[in-house]
Amino acid sequence: MTIDQKFIHQLVNVTTKAAIASYQFVGKKDKIAADKAAVDSMRNELNQMNIKGEIVIGEGELDKAPMLYIGEKVGTTYGPEIDIAVDPLEGTNFVANNLPGALSVISIAEKNNLFNAPETYMEKISAKVNEKGVIDLDYTVKENIFNLSEYLNKKPENITACVMDRPRHNDIINELSRIGVKIKLITDGDVMGALFVTDKKYKVDIFLGIGGGPEGVLAAAALDAYNCHFQGRFLFDTDDDKNRANKMGIKDLTKKYELNEIIRGDSIFCATGITSGDLVSGIKIKNKKFVSETLITHKSSGIKKIIKNIDNR
Ligand code: FBP
Repeated sequence: MTIDQKFIHQLVNVTTKAAIASYQFVGKKDKIAADKAAVDSMRNELNQMNIKGEIVIGEGELDKAPMLYIGEKVGTTYGPEIDIAVDPLEGTNFVANNLPGALSVISIAEKNNLFNAPETYMEKISAKVNEKGVIDLDYTVKENIFNLSEYLNKKPENITACVMDRPRHNDIINELSRIGVKIKLITDGDVMGALFVTDKKYKVDIFLGIGGGPEGVLAAAALDAYNCHFQGRFLFDTDDDKNRANKMGIKDLTKKYELNEIIRGDSIFCATGITSGDLVSGIKIKNKKFVSETLITHKSSGIKKIIKNIDNR
């Protein structure tokens, strides 16, 4: 079974509208309002789609977030059963502080093909490698870099690793520096960070570190279309996290997931820029119209491209 290509256009509309809604808050120092605008818009647009949709990765769980929570049903119900992962505003700091790289992101797969996970941190690794055993969450930083260096036929000092700038990554960063790897530090936005490995133009060979679990699942959806390697391991630190994971049916809390255990079958991924970043341009206003860019991937048709959209409101 594949997901009909007609949904690509509809999902571009969903993330574009959410991006435009959030754009109104660029530089306004209000992360919550920016996020709410994106969530409200995304929910409204999803509810107009002819799908029987369920949010499996969303804005928290029912008790914590009023909208697009995990388990929420969306769509008119007249259509296929679809699992949906959303991050209506990825990079709330970027929008609040008018910084590059904010995105509105969604991914869909057929029912039961997208990992259903609570909001926790995830240990992640990605690289443009399509065989197993080259990079692995269980390897040391050094092993990963040396393996990748051999695989890419590139000296370690010519390898670039993208890591989020967080104290929890000090050991990774120090080890990368010792080996002489070039480091690309990002302050936020690790969906984009993980996707830098998809194309040489981003000049990143490997992404590693700990970030949001939902962001990991979303990145995995796009990486699948690019035939990249991704692994993720959810980190359930508190008793609350562990209980929620149990309730969702996750038995082994320390399991390392391969990409195809996170997302299976056909999928569509869309990410629209809110503020301009390396991946896509942000919203611009030209002749009173909103101009946007969206990265789209559709696994079964092999579509991987950035499209420009002009909103005629
Ligand atoms: P928000 O858009 O929800 O603020 O997330 C931004 C982000 O940088 C994600 O890309 C990343 O996965 C997560 O925050 C990392 O969390 P933390 O800031 O707690 O390290």
